[in-house]
Amino acid sequence: MTKKNVLLLCGGGSTEHEVSLVSVKHIKACLESLPNLNVRTVEIDKNGHWLGESGKKYLLDAKGFLRSFEQDGDPGLKIDMAIPCIHGYPGETGDIQSYFEMIKLPYLGCNSETSKICFNKITTKLWATALGVANTPFEFIAELNPANLDRVKSFQKIHGDIVVKASSQGSSVGCYLVEKDKDPTETIRKAFHYSPFVLVEKRFRPRELEVSVYEFNGKLQISYPGEIICPSKFYSYEEKYSSESQTTTSTRAEHLTEEQIKTMTDYASKLYHGLKLRHLSRIDFFLDSGVIYLNEINTFPGLTPISMFPKMMEANGHLFKDFLDQHIRNL
Ligand SMILES: Nc1ncnc2c1ncn2[C@@H]1O[C@H](COP(=O)(O)OP(=O)(O)O)[C@@H](O)[C@H]1O
Ligand SMILES: [Mg+2]
Repeated sequence: MTKKNVLLLCGGGSTEHEVSLVSVKHIKACLESLPNLNVRTVEIDKNGHWLGESGKKYLLDAKGFLRSFEQDGDPGLKIDMAIPCIHGYPGETGDIQSYFEMIKLPYLGCNSETSKICFNKITTKLWATALGVANTPFEFIAELNPANLDRVKSFQKIHGDIVVKASSQGSSVGCYLVEKDKDPTETIRKAFHYSPFVLVEKRFRPRELEVSVYEFNGKLQISYPGEIICPSKFYSYEEKYSSESQTTTSTRAEHLTEEQIKTMTDYASKLYHGLKLRHLSRIDFFLDSGVIYLNEINTFPGLTPISMFPKMMEANGHLFKDFLDQHIRNL
């Protein structure tokens, strides 16, 4: 049996570069246990160079050959499929998927259009609302000018504390709390350093729940909701990744009503079909005063051994390794 050549891409140079390097280790370990695969891991560094494991530079040409970047006569390796294990730019943002689509290379995960919509927290909310999925009250702005600032201040008057977020970011970077009587101007300016649009949301003090949504045995699977228990009620970059973090997680959130679980399952299913999610996603919710709201959709969620996506999948009775195996065989 001929081996399949799998290109495992990681890094990307965004604020989530380092997380991607941890996720890729787990994917690699799973792939190594599967037969008939020839896995080539390439890290896209902060300068956009594609580095192989020996540090040699590569490029993926328009015929799908992974070749030496230098013109050294290397005929290259024909890649059969790619796994873009990149959180944030240029993976979860849909950019690299556009290139795979152009060169007709099969890959794991959501298509470029869906990825782009879901990576932008504003377009996600517009779609969610249109699909009948409740989400936090919000405003969004394209520039910091007096009229937009007035809109944000009126929003603050109505809703109290707010969360200001760069539209297209992850890992809580460019995401800030502003108390109800504080001027939001400088915070909005900071958020604009990260993204061309800024989202302003009502601040809740919610429970943070999430589900793994994935295809297994040819069917859509939605896991039981897990929970992120963050004592500060703000799941910041430090809370996510520092060893000092006070946050704990559970793959089985306690004391949920049947109705709350059903709402999350229904919302996840609506979003999966309505936005054409594919293969895998983690969908995050808030539970506030008994009501479920969508927070965000992660089209390439963290995949480290302690990440919620693989843990919730495994609690749901499916091994992440088997999930990879099924999709690699079918792509
Ligand atoms: N509207 C909100 N009310 C209360 N907390 C929020 C709100 N939005 C975000 N947060 C807090 O900030 C964290 C990061 O926000 P999120 O939108 O999930 O961005 P990221 O994509 O960076 O994870 C959330 O996990 C939550 O703890
Ligand atoms: Mg989040």
